[in-house]
Amino acid sequence: CGGYRNLTAIFATEFAADKALSDRFRAEVRRLRCRGVEPRAFFVAGRPAHGEGELTVTHPYDGRAVGRTTLATADQVEAAVAAAAGVADQAAALPAHARAAAMDQVSRRLAERAEEVARLITAENGKPVKWARAEVGRAVSTFRWAAEEARRFSGELQRLDTDPAATGRIAVVRRAPRGPVLGIAPFNFPLNLVAHKVAPAIAVGAPIVVKPAPATPLSALLLGEILAETDLPEGMFSVLPLPNERAAELVADPRLPVVSFTGSGPVGAAIRRSVPEKHVTLELGGNAAAVICEDWASNEDLTFAAHRIATFSNYQAGQSCIAVQRVYVHEWLYDGFLPRLVASVQALRGGDPSDEHTDVGPLVSVEAAERVEAWVDEAAAAGATIEVGGRRDGATYPPTVLSGVPADAKVCAEEVFGPVLVVAPVESDRAAFAAVNDSAYGLQAGVFTHRLDVAFAAHRALQVGGVIIGDVPSYRADQMPYGGVKGSGVGREGLRSAMDDYTEPRVMVLTGLEL
Ligand code: SIN
Repeated sequence: CGGYRNLTAIFATEFAADKALSDRFRAEVRRLRCRGVEPRAFFVAGRPAHGEGELTVTHPYDGRAVGRTTLATADQVEAAVAAAAGVADQAAALPAHARAAAMDQVSRRLAERAEEVARLITAENGKPVKWARAEVGRAVSTFRWAAEEARRFSGELQRLDTDPAATGRIAVVRRAPRGPVLGIAPFNFPLNLVAHKVAPAIAVGAPIVVKPAPATPLSALLLGEILAETDLPEGMFSVLPLPNERAAELVADPRLPVVSFTGSGPVGAAIRRSVPEKHVTLELGGNAAAVICEDWASNEDLTFAAHRIATFSNYQAGQSCIAVQRVYVHEWLYDGFLPRLVASVQALRGGDPSDEHTDVGPLVSVEAAERVEAWVDEAAAAGATIEVGGRRDGATYPPTVLSGVPADAKVCAEEVFGPVLVVAPVESDRAAFAAVNDSAYGLQAGVFTHRLDVAFAAHRALQVGGVIIGDVPSYRADQMPYGGVKGSGVGREGLRSAMDDYTEPRVMVLTGLEL
């Protein structure tokens, strides 16, 4: 290994002028360093498998190889899809107790292996271990909720005798799976956002083929290992590591009539355009805002809001679709709020994400941090003030607060997906709600108010999928409907909502009854 390190140093300099050559060389060194490590199996129709080539997963913090797997071959993809289609009828007929037992078992096994899973999430994604543990805890409850929802997913009775001609008639409305699901997952919650695709599918009796993010496939493969311990029928799930370029073949496959995608807006839009006949759920980005209303005025109020906003603008280095990106503060509170916010941001500890005390780790890659840096530089060149921030170091970008940002700067108008916060004064609560809505996105918003009338006014005015009163927009309970409007997507996740999305109502009208 020492030899390889020296070689890297020499050749990185030598090849600096030729980026392609240099990138190929670094990839080869990473591959060699990981050579002793067994590649992780992926899952084709519930069975462990190895494919072709090599996918080396590196730690975003220091670039070291943390695991490897292989890529599914075309034949393995075909086998996974054919098995999903082949088992669909059997899966739909599985009794609720069997589906629920499998989900309860997955929940239990995740809890038993929680620390191992959390460490794996940190290694492949770079999020601080305390946030990785929180993600595992959430996945445990995502599967537990799926089990509970599977038990009570019964449909409804609708009386039809509201019309004299339908006297003696009643409708039984049950929900039938639309068919096998294709789940395409992002890197930012490599376990729980996979769970949000898998758990509702199994809960309704729909087979699922999962494509994890190429940067972070390991947690999904570990979940595959746990799913493989259950008694689910063969073909019920597959987890296939594939480069993004090969997702299109799965999206187009008519045997997967439901596509659930979490990721970037342009990719989501392209998926929707390419398969208008399919049922497509899109969880896309956001530039989530928090509002400090006129009544949120005491010292404790402002300190609490500053602390929550600083934390949830920077958790996972801002790589959450509901990380706080914009803050609108009533103008009479602005001067009291800003120094508190800056102090709270400065109090966050950066560093190695495997350290218990680290609050903010690296972004997923150097390229991601470079993009954030370019966007901040662009805002500063357009007149923004950097209240706190610093210099990029590899994949790590320091928590940054900007004021005086033009509304059309990318850090304000686009999804930054990094540890950057834009703060601005507004003349009224109503003006703040208008500023929140002045966005191509609409995922969630946080409104700091004590007043019920203001809470309801915000809920009515804000064009988003969810409004959190008295806290940041980053709050998500895994059982609640989660999703957005405008550029933030279509459909909702959250167990019950996703189960509705993966199924369609099927009505049976009974006649000649004495009701
Ligand atoms: C997301 O980034 O959309 C997911 C946020 C979460 O599950 O907390």
